[in-house]
Amino acid sequence: MSSQPSLDFAAIRAHLATPHPRNNIPASITARACAGLHVNPLHPLGQLKARIQAYFERTGFSTFDRLSPIVTVRQNFDSLLTPLDHVSRRPTDTYYLDDDRLLRCHMTAHQVELIAAGHSAFLMAGDVFRRDEVDATHYPIFHQVDGVRVWDDATLPSVVGTTPKAREEFALAELKETLEGLVQHVFGDVKMRWVDAFFPFTEPSLELEIYFGNRWLEVLGCGVIRPRILAEAGRGSGSVGWAFGLGLERLAMVLHEIPDIRLFWTDEPRFTDQFAGAAPAGATPPVQFRPYSKYPGCTKDVTFWLPPQGLAENDLFACVREAAGDLVERVELIDSFTHPKTARESRCYRITYRHMNRTLVNEEVDRIQADVRLRISRDIGAELR
Ligand code: DAH
Repeated sequence: MSSQPSLDFAAIRAHLATPHPRNNIPASITARACAGLHVNPLHPLGQLKARIQAYFERTGFSTFDRLSPIVTVRQNFDSLLTPLDHVSRRPTDTYYLDDDRLLRCHMTAHQVELIAAGHSAFLMAGDVFRRDEVDATHYPIFHQVDGVRVWDDATLPSVVGTTPKAREEFALAELKETLEGLVQHVFGDVKMRWVDAFFPFTEPSLELEIYFGNRWLEVLGCGVIRPRILAEAGRGSGSVGWAFGLGLERLAMVLHEIPDIRLFWTDEPRFTDQFAGAAPAGATPPVQFRPYSKYPGCTKDVTFWLPPQGLAENDLFACVREAAGDLVERVELIDSFTHPKTARESRCYRITYRHMNRTLVNEEVDRIQADVRLRISRDIGAELR
């Protein structure tokens, strides 16, 4: 285990809340950054992370799970060869503090600095942040575990040979074997398949899918680290390595049959108590979540003319999240049309409100809906209808 400095929450939150023309981080995100769900042994995310960690620590991996979520554009994008025009760089998709700093949108952001610091077998676990749609499987903060393994002339088995191709093939085979073992360790005996994928930082890139609950489900992305990244991390030309990344919520939802991603953030005992008794590294077989009664939801529609500059949907979703917090379950486009004369576009979105733990009262939903409307006109400049 490596020793890690602990996070200074107060300083991080102060940074996130510092005004800057490019700062697009709402109060709800600042309040929830560094919540530490993935290091809480009583929480399903902490238990799943511990289970993954246990598998890798058997083979000498160390774990970094207290890295600050504030990273630079270079760490999050440039060092990983993300193209300059990639959508993930836009402020509609990513939370920026200022011109140079942002909330990491994947744990891969720490890969190059840790390899450069000399680490060769390690996990990185933490909260990641993305502006995104609103439904049962999307939440602007979620958790990932990334893993990296690097070899060089001194650590590669001598049978591998010295050609780049032979080394890449060795890394790829080791990667597949390791991750198939991980899936077995977490899910037991399941059918798996490898699918070709693309990530800017790996080549070849793959995704691993499992057959679970009668369908194929993507579990993780991975690949052989591009030589240029290893070179930039200061590793010699003979080095080779693999990397992977997975989302904890997605896997925990499948593993425990948790129906809504908001539940990971509730402190309702009917949720938390179901996991608090499980073994730190996860129970085998996994805890089957027993949904407590589903409270009635309530839908409200909002219709507006798009502003002249158009609409980034993530900005609309942000308005709803800021007004409704975790009471919003889903936002979906149900209708749109373009006026034949003015060519203006009108859209109607349906918002589903539901409390996880009690019935909502009409007046509170009306108040929230009024706030949603206010924000749409004020923050987006749309004309309400
Ligand atoms: N960072 C990727 C994501 O957030 C996941 C990932 C894919 C990480 C491939 C890796 C990798 O390290 O090699 O979707």
